[in-house]
Amino acid sequence: MCGIVGILGKEPVADSIVEALRRLEYRGYDSAGVATLTSSGIERRRAVGKLRNLAELLARAPLPGTSGIGHTRWATHGGVTETNAHPHVVGDVVVVHNGIIENFRTLKDELIAGGAVFTTETDTEVVAQLLAREISQGASPRDAVKAVLKRLQGAFALAMLFKGEGDLMIGARNGPPLAIGHGDGEMFLGSDAIALAPFTNRITYLEDGDWAVVSHNKAEIFDAENRPVKRPMSFSQASSLLVDKGNYRHFMAKEIAEQPEVIGHTLAEYVDFAERRVRMPQALPFDFAKLDRITIAACGTAAYAGLVAKYWFERIARLPVEADIASEVRYREAPLLKNGLAIVVSQSGETADTLAALRYCKAQGQHTLAVVNVPESTMARESETVIRTFAGPEIGVASTKTFTCQLVALACLAILAGRQRGTLSAEAERELVGALIATPRQMTETLKDEKHIAEIARELAGSRDVMFLGRGLNYPLALEGALKLKELSYIHAEGYAAGELKHGPIALIDETVPVIVIAPHDELYEKTISNMEEVAARGGRIVLLTDDHGHKSFRTITVPKANAFVSPLLYAVPVQLLAYHAAVFLGTDVDQPRNLAKSVTVE
Ligand code: F6R
Repeated sequence: MCGIVGILGKEPVADSIVEALRRLEYRGYDSAGVATLTSSGIERRRAVGKLRNLAELLARAPLPGTSGIGHTRWATHGGVTETNAHPHVVGDVVVVHNGIIENFRTLKDELIAGGAVFTTETDTEVVAQLLAREISQGASPRDAVKAVLKRLQGAFALAMLFKGEGDLMIGARNGPPLAIGHGDGEMFLGSDAIALAPFTNRITYLEDGDWAVVSHNKAEIFDAENRPVKRPMSFSQASSLLVDKGNYRHFMAKEIAEQPEVIGHTLAEYVDFAERRVRMPQALPFDFAKLDRITIAACGTAAYAGLVAKYWFERIARLPVEADIASEVRYREAPLLKNGLAIVVSQSGETADTLAALRYCKAQGQHTLAVVNVPESTMARESETVIRTFAGPEIGVASTKTFTCQLVALACLAILAGRQRGTLSAEAERELVGALIATPRQMTETLKDEKHIAEIARELAGSRDVMFLGRGLNYPLALEGALKLKELSYIHAEGYAAGELKHGPIALIDETVPVIVIAPHDELYEKTISNMEEVAARGGRIVLLTDDHGHKSFRTITVPKANAFVSPLLYAVPVQLLAYHAAVFLGTDVDQPRNLAKSVTVE
């Protein structure tokens, strides 16, 4: 997935395009580029690596032109090279693209057979080649786009400019989001409203299959059948201020530290502090008492939040839950029964697999509920109920504060479900809500232990493999701990259900393998400790995360004692800090780890 932007402006646009791309860099940072229409035709600047490389290039070699498009790339087809960097120019056409053209091989073969010469390895170039062919055969840009869109299969958002057509920009959406920004005598296209926030807050979102012909003063929108359609204009709340790191070395450090505050904001939305009771800001369009099943779909860290929620819903509300990764749910064709609720969990609200799972579940007649951090996202718009997390913008590519905010929102839903199904008494609800209310303070205590955690992280940094073990509610935390460590430090790490270890993975244990054991003093504590002893007996280097002070013989990180119900929230902080400090020690790019992107809008 990539970020795209287009501007028909009054002044030279290259700098504004870079500013918008800065806000889209979370979508990919393999390379970036800008193209504008100038008196000599189409001119472009492209640079491999972070956006700052493109900004430096533009400072050395400025780009004139009041109409332009730009792109920040997360490579799918073709290596990370300047040649493969967008925008792609063929003849009189320049294109930027987010997504994947799935039938590009067939199209490429056809074009090559017709004499086309390809200069890149990208799937995007077929779009530029097809458009250029149409135009060389006399088609207008509008007709060329209409003809080419019919030929494309896959998921894409496109922005296109045409040589000599300074008052024309065409955008198209099939899958990944694309927004039109309305200025005064200026118009914009962008992958999201945040990219366009410095210029306008008047936003029209294209729907799937739409394409738009944009000039300085208007936008005409057509649907997949080429019928003119009206799409509503909304006023975006996205802030034009770029979030900064404050006094922190990395966004990730800041976001870890912000957790007590932002989970407090999320709690404030869903909890009545005085009554110690869950309180939804809006009535839900379903009654948990009438549901037979919940399906939870999400990716990565969000999927682990979903897995924690499975334990909560099943235990508290006695409601069967299937929690699965979205890329499996969407293709498994699972039969979903009537009276089911599908919950999708996503920071961005744009993750392609999660969105597809949402649409699948909707088509299967499920009620749908999206737990999202970006209120204007596609998932928020397409689901029946939106439960927002109030984490604020998360810039670090690895999710931290959005994970704990997702947990808070899901915990509140599970409590509500328990109340509606009669499986949770008012007294028990007060106790669970009280435990949630205490978590910001308890997290703050763990954050104070950062120096000690950093020392342990430094020891982990020299390892080749690291294991994380947890049981019950903290099994998903073991998975999350391993994910955080591998994505940030590039150390191989695996998470296991502690009881599963003896069925194979224990073979990996020797004195070189640190094993992080997540063991709050809950009803499974003794069992987890037995699994830990099995590891210790084989020489494994134990790091114990616990609220019990009785295990001084091991490297221990002590977490405040709390109701076991909230333990995933509290243990999230030390696993995040371990990964963060290991990465800092190893000198990796903490906020933008290699090969990743913040929002994954391709399959
Ligand atoms: C890992 C991480 C990813 C995301 C995943 C889903 O630290 O951030 O695993 O959780 O890509 O993204 P969203 O939540 O935007 O759907």
